[in-house]
Amino acid sequence: MAVLVTGGLGYIGSHTVVELLNDGFEVVIVDDLSNSERFILKNIEEITGKKPFFYPFDLRRRELLTQVFDAHKIEGCINFAASKAVGESQLKPVDYYENNLFTLINILQEFKERGISNFIFSSSCTVYGQAEKMPIDENAPLKIPESVYGKTKQMGEEIITDFAKAYGRKISLLRYFNPIGAHPSGKLGELPMGIPNNLVPYVMQTAAGIRERLNIWGDDYDTEDGTPVRDYIYVVDLAKAHVSALKKLMQIGDETIIDIFNLGTGKGVSVLEVVKAFEIANDVKVPYQICARREGDITVAYANVDKAEKELHWKSETSLEESLKTVWKWQLYLDSQTV
Ligand code: UD1
Repeated sequence: MAVLVTGGLGYIGSHTVVELLNDGFEVVIVDDLSNSERFILKNIEEITGKKPFFYPFDLRRRELLTQVFDAHKIEGCINFAASKAVGESQLKPVDYYENNLFTLINILQEFKERGISNFIFSSSCTVYGQAEKMPIDENAPLKIPESVYGKTKQMGEEIITDFAKAYGRKISLLRYFNPIGAHPSGKLGELPMGIPNNLVPYVMQTAAGIRERLNIWGDDYDTEDGTPVRDYIYVVDLAKAHVSALKKLMQIGDETIIDIFNLGTGKGVSVLEVVKAFEIANDVKVPYQICARREGDITVAYANVDKAEKELHWKSETSLEESLKTVWKWQLYLDSQTV
């Protein structure tokens, strides 16, 4: 039984491929390497002792995708392939809509024509905007996202839901909170592509001396220490949730299933708490300065994870400190590769 993993050499994708292979799935990766590198594939093979199939192409090339479906008995898909830089999405909206939605539609066309079910989509807590109530459960009202990136996630959810309803298929929308960390082997993680936007990669590079200091975007929020609060979920825990979500769909009969799960730890942590935890976990210094707020940032977001616990029998297991240790191990690995 083969699972198609699009974007399977990306940050969350590569960790999920490892968990799928460890669980005995046959994995077919399609990744255009726009945000990854070939050594990630080699490292997946080293970690698991198994070889996934790999096709390097852009999923907008429908004819190549058709060939992959002809060559393998695909029984499900986890769709990670997407551009994800919030700032860039504002500058290149048409490219973002094209890349994130055309690729999705191409896969769904293949699923539709071949009668395949079991589709899992990487969504984001960004669909909730600043929710009224914490923790955020799956019934919280959706807000129109501020960024084009966020809109492609919300539109993607709608397209997949309509697909499931019209053709009687099984789908799962996984809304991630803030994924962090790297593989415990130190051989997989988020690849540095330019100046990081996200907090933990920036903290990592600051500790490594690549950045002079971390800019903390505001300490005048209505939170305990004034910095924004998020739910930082360890990437390997997150990867395991995908395997659980896929197995759940595969075990149910042929009826229409539209699953939605919030994936987080259920715990809110402030920016300053992340910085302190990183310093303690790795015995390093992270110089920082307080700056003005970043446009579009919300005050607080953390997940209610009851539904995932109950229906996926899954919950996050790794502490913030443990996951921040893996981040440092990944940085040291990257350093060792460039020497
Ligand atoms: C961001 C995106 C979100 C996306 C998610 C993917 C924005 C507004 N939101 O979420 O759509 O789904 O990444 O992981 O970009 N921070 C600093 N200094 C930094 C970087 C971040 O203080 O250099 C703070 C931010 O103000 C925020 C927190 O750290 O309070 C987390 O930021 P980040 O890692 O970028 O994630 P989000 O903004 O939550």
